[in-house]
Amino acid sequence: MNISHYLQKEKLNKEDIVFLLGRTEPEELDQLYRAAYEVKKECVGNVDYYRGLLEFSNRCIKNCCYCGIRRGNRQVERFDTPKEDILAMARWCYEQQYGSITLQSGERQDEAFVDYVEDLLREIKSIGNGALGITLCVGEQTKETYQRWYDAGAHRYLLRIESSNPKLYKTLHPQDGHHKWEVRKACLDALAEIGYQVGTGVMIGLPGQTLEDLADDILFYKSQNIAMIGMGPYVVHHNTPLGKKVSEAGLDSPEERARRLRLSINMVAVTRLFLKDVNIAATTAMQTLHPLGREMALKAGANILMPLVTLPQFRNQYQLYDNKPCLEDGQEQCRNCLSARVASVGDTVGWGQWGDSPHFFNNLK
Ligand code: 5AD
Ligand code: SF4
Repeated sequence: MNISHYLQKEKLNKEDIVFLLGRTEPEELDQLYRAAYEVKKECVGNVDYYRGLLEFSNRCIKNCCYCGIRRGNRQVERFDTPKEDILAMARWCYEQQYGSITLQSGERQDEAFVDYVEDLLREIKSIGNGALGITLCVGEQTKETYQRWYDAGAHRYLLRIESSNPKLYKTLHPQDGHHKWEVRKACLDALAEIGYQVGTGVMIGLPGQTLEDLADDILFYKSQNIAMIGMGPYVVHHNTPLGKKVSEAGLDSPEERARRLRLSINMVAVTRLFLKDVNIAATTAMQTLHPLGREMALKAGANILMPLVTLPQFRNQYQLYDNKPCLEDGQEQCRNCLSARVASVGDTVGWGQWGDSPHFFNNLK
C-alpha cells in the first residue's frame, strides 16, 4: 500500500501508525512531513511559541539509568541557582516577550524544596502582574504538592512517562521501589485532576523499544488527554549504566544515531497527524543528533521551542546526555539563534503570548 493512502485516511489506527513510523525512504518521509506540516498550519498555525527553559538545579534523588545527572553520577558538581538570578532570568524572559518560562530541575521531594518552589512561583507570578506563563518540570510529587504549586501560579506541568510500556520502563530504571511506572502514571492523572495543562513525552530509539511501543506511546498521549508533548531521541551519556551498555554493544554508531533521529521526527509527524491540536516541542536532543534537528521537527509538525535561559556557568553541569548543544551560548544568543531557525522554515514566533495548546481549551468546550 502506498503512503498517500495512509495520509488521506480520516482516522489512523494502531497499524497505520506503526506503518507511518517505520517509513525510511526519503520521498515517503517528505510526503509524511509535508502532510504533518499542513495539519500543523490548519490546527495550531505556523506560529511557534517560546518557553524560556531555566534549569535551576541539578540535584536529584532519582537514579534513572540513562540520565547524566542521576544521583549516582559522582562526577557531576551539584548546583543551585540563587533565587535572585532565577527571578532576574524570569524578568528577562518577560521583557523579551517569551510569553512563558519553564522551570526545570532534578527531582527533590523534601519540604524545603516544596516551600522554595512555592515561594518562587509567587514571586515569578508577580512579574508584570502575572503576565508570564509558568510551566513546572520538577518530577514526581504528592497531589498536595502539585495543588500548592498550582495555587501559587504554575498552570502547566511537564512529566515524561519515558515509555508507555511498563516493561520497557522497568529496564530503564533501578528496581529500588522508587522508580515505578504506576507512580509516574498516577502523577499524570493527579496533575490533570487539579487542572494543569499536562505535558508528557517519551525517549525514542531506546534499546528494546519497538515501533509498536512507539505507536502505543502516541495512543497513550490520546488516552491521557495530553495537551503538550515533549519527546526526543535517546542520547548516550557516557557515565550512565545505559549509556555504557549501549556504547559497548556498538549501538551508538552514526547509523544508529541517524535512525534514532529519523524515528524522532517521524514520531513528531505522526503525533501531529493523529492528535492535531496539541503543542509539540522541537527538543534540544534532536539538535544534538543533527545540527538542523530542531528545524526538521518544526517542518514535521512541532510548534514549541525552548530557548535555554539557564545561567551559562551552570550549563555544563546540566548535561542529561553527551554533546548537548548551546553550552557556550548566553541567553541572548539562544534567542537570536532560534528566531533564525523559525524564520528558516517559514514560520513566525508568537511573541508575548502564552501559546496554550488549543487542545486544552477545545477539550473544555
Ligand atoms: N537522552 C535523551 N533524553 C534524556 N532525558 C534524560 N536523559 C536523557 C538521555 N540520555 C530526558 C528524559 C527526562 C527529561 C528531563 O530528559 O526524558 O524526562
Ligand atoms: Fe533525575 Fe530526571 Fe535525570 Fe531521572 S531523568 S535522574 S529524575 S533529572
